[in-house]
Amino acid sequence: MSHVAKRIGILTSGGDCPGLNAVIRGAVKTAERHGYDVVGFIKGYEGLVDPVTYIPLNGKNTAGILTQGGTILGSTNKGRFAATVGVQDRIEIDPVLMAGVQATYEQLGLEGLICVGGDGSLAVAQQFHEFGLPVVGVPKTIDNDLSATAFTFGFDSAVACATDALDRLHTTAASHERVLVLEVMGRHAGWIGLYSGIAGGGDVILIPEIPWTFENVCGKILERDQQGKKFTLVVVAEGAELPDGELVTAERRQDTRQTRLGGIGNVVAYEIEKRIGRETRVCVLGHLQRGGGPTTFDRVLATQFGSHAVRLIIEGKFGDMVCYQPPSIMSVPIVTAVNKLSQVDANSSAVQAARAMGISFGDTTETVGPFGRPNALKSNESLNESLPSSECTDIELTPELSPAGLEAMPAEWEAAAAYADAAMW
Ligand code: F6P
Repeated sequence: MSHVAKRIGILTSGGDCPGLNAVIRGAVKTAERHGYDVVGFIKGYEGLVDPVTYIPLNGKNTAGILTQGGTILGSTNKGRFAATVGVQDRIEIDPVLMAGVQATYEQLGLEGLICVGGDGSLAVAQQFHEFGLPVVGVPKTIDNDLSATAFTFGFDSAVACATDALDRLHTTAASHERVLVLEVMGRHAGWIGLYSGIAGGGDVILIPEIPWTFENVCGKILERDQQGKKFTLVVVAEGAELPDGELVTAERRQDTRQTRLGGIGNVVAYEIEKRIGRETRVCVLGHLQRGGGPTTFDRVLATQFGSHAVRLIIEGKFGDMVCYQPPSIMSVPIVTAVNKLSQVDANSSAVQAARAMGISFGDTTETVGPFGRPNALKSNESLNESLPSSECTDIELTPELSPAGLEAMPAEWEAAAAYADAAMW
């Protein structure tokens, strides 16, 4: 009698991110060592039914994928398996599709299915669980907006990409004494904006969690001017609402998918130029943040997630999702994690440290306040009083920073010193 191995399935669903292949590899290696065959469904949930599309996964065909971006299984953003409308509202998956998925489980003898996805994809997994199908979840997204896990893999890689972009923008902004606006992803959470803004030496960080005004953003730029820092780096999260509460969208969708965000960088740059006449340029990082290989941190996190997902199946913890609660990898019911956005705490230590260093969140003109506490908002009137009456392109240096202090230096030193001063983070 031939030996029939136990079998599990795995799929990657929703927008991709660095680390998906590391999860697949971690799961396959662990499963093989514990006597399981693994099949990988193609293009997310779509591969489960009509037509059923999968490939066998093993040590051989997953060798070397740890460092690769994307997913060898492909992915679909919702497709036929939408379980939510917009951010939260639940919709029931078509019962015919559910019956088809159940048939696939039976035909392939699946003891469990690992669903790797963000909140929308995990909401589908939750409905599978409620339907009685053995499923476990692995949280994935560059946005880091899933509850119950301190970090999702993909986030660190996206932050590394945005930080690298800021490093590059920093030098060109300093050379040309420009304002550079970097628009980053993250949907309705400001994690990428906050972390890259801190890591990349941003001067202004605009995120959905902290309401801001153009007056305060411009005030920060002028404050830097007065300090002799003639350039400014502004990081703006795509989901940061405009002061009037409006979201800037790239495309409004009529179907069940979420509205595509994008474009706020241009709005911010336009307003800065209009209000204070400073030459401003925009860089929209877009999908560069989702492409490429995972960082070291994401490789370790994703590998652990893949391995622990198999463990959940072995231990029969169906309906659970692996999560990172430092220093441990644990699991929680998927239902407790989906549809609950994890956003930046406006009073978190990261925000406090940023404020204490003088980074502006656009919510106050005063950046030096009691540690950890944003100062009270100044009225627009008082800010306007501090704005120069002209187009503001020629701001007088304060006496301490005036060239007089450099008089004794040779001209070329003077230029270098002025550049170095302006280029200070
Ligand atoms: O959720 C990940 C994410 O990259 C968001 O940061 C971004 O808003 C969205 O996906 C972009 O989606 P799409 O690839 O469908 O344009």
